[in-house]
Amino acid sequence: MANQMSSSCFLIHLLLLLLLLQLLLPSTEAAAAYDITSFGAKPDGHSDSTRPFLDAWSAACRSSGPATVHVPAGTFLIGPTTFPGPCKSSSIIVQIDGTLVAAPSSHASEDWLLFHHVAGVSVYGGTIDGRGASLWSCKANGHNCPRGATSLRFLGSKNIVISGLTSINSELYHIVIDDSQGVTVQGVKISAPGNSPNTDGVHVQMSTDVTVTGTGIKTGDDCISIGPGTTNLWIERVTCGPGHGISIGSLGKEDQEQGVQNVTVKSTVFTGTENGLRIKTWGRPSDGFVRGVVFEHALMQNVQNPIIIDQNYCPDGNSCPNQQSSSGVKISQVSYNDIQGSSASQVAVKFDCSSSNPCSGIGLQDVKLTYGNSAAEATCEHADGSASSAVEPPSCLL
Ligand SMILES: *[C@@H]1O[C@H](CO)[C@@H](O)[C@H](O)[C@H]1NC(C)=O
Repeated sequence: MANQMSSSCFLIHLLLLLLLLQLLLPSTEAAAAYDITSFGAKPDGHSDSTRPFLDAWSAACRSSGPATVHVPAGTFLIGPTTFPGPCKSSSIIVQIDGTLVAAPSSHASEDWLLFHHVAGVSVYGGTIDGRGASLWSCKANGHNCPRGATSLRFLGSKNIVISGLTSINSELYHIVIDDSQGVTVQGVKISAPGNSPNTDGVHVQMSTDVTVTGTGIKTGDDCISIGPGTTNLWIERVTCGPGHGISIGSLGKEDQEQGVQNVTVKSTVFTGTENGLRIKTWGRPSDGFVRGVVFEHALMQNVQNPIIIDQNYCPDGNSCPNQQSSSGVKISQVSYNDIQGSSASQVAVKFDCSSSNPCSGIGLQDVKLTYGNSAAEATCEHADGSASSAVEPPSCLL
């Protein structure tokens, strides 16, 4: 009798266990996975794997549930590709374990890897190599060169994650976030030589709720550039150098342009860069604006222009209606808090604002910038604001 009891007890437990497994199964079901090699991609670095990559994307995009596009270890040659949406799947992971190398540039495409109208897409890991060197040397030799391609662009997209990706040697910008919403860039590494032209690290424009965190950028132009129509941008734990710093702008090139609002840049380190924290506008009419910017906890190591607002950008005489014109971009509510380190030029703080639209509400707090053994300087043109006591070089704000 006792034996019978325990065996039926055992059976009940077994049944319960099976039931439990049954309940758990749907949630543990693996997402549909599409390995680009099963669509014909070759990890040899010279067979063209563009079509297989796109076919794997299309299959993932058509999935009714979560899907993964897998790029396994190895080197895959990929030409300019648009990964189109909208997709049926609301969650697609592009898992890159290997390296994508750009096909020798066709010079026709503005982008190498373009995700267009997608939502819920995450790009994880791996390396993308734009192989920009031949274009850079063409530009350096003053030939009539093509413009080049951005390596990775998200356009008209939302709920995007780019995590753990390494981007090297883009022809032009490395990563562009354009007309998008809800984008997280984290743990990304970007590298190109300090003299490579226009190889901005991350460029954001016409986008809202974008965060860039834990990212190391060494490149030939801005580490991060922030274009018109950027709102709610959060940048934290970013290292920059070589490079041209973190720049809001250039803005105000157009007469009508969307403003930049609510930008936080914190815990950054700049090493040997041309600029640290910069706001840059064209010296020409525009209805653009920059409003609500917090720069805090920045370390400058031998930076040419650690803190700079330059509203007289006009690289060649033809670009501005006349050299006397001032910028229409209104800059207000910009604070600098806990900015420390060394300047590589005497003017460590430069506010060169528009004569017709003076900067207002500039705040300096806990700023300590040195210039070798001599005193660093601050210069102000048309800049209003206030400084706390511990500011060096002494503030020139009105
Ligand atoms: C500013 O942007 C941050 C994200 O960067 C967001 O959390 C915050 O709510 C925004 N503030 C306003 C007033 O929209």
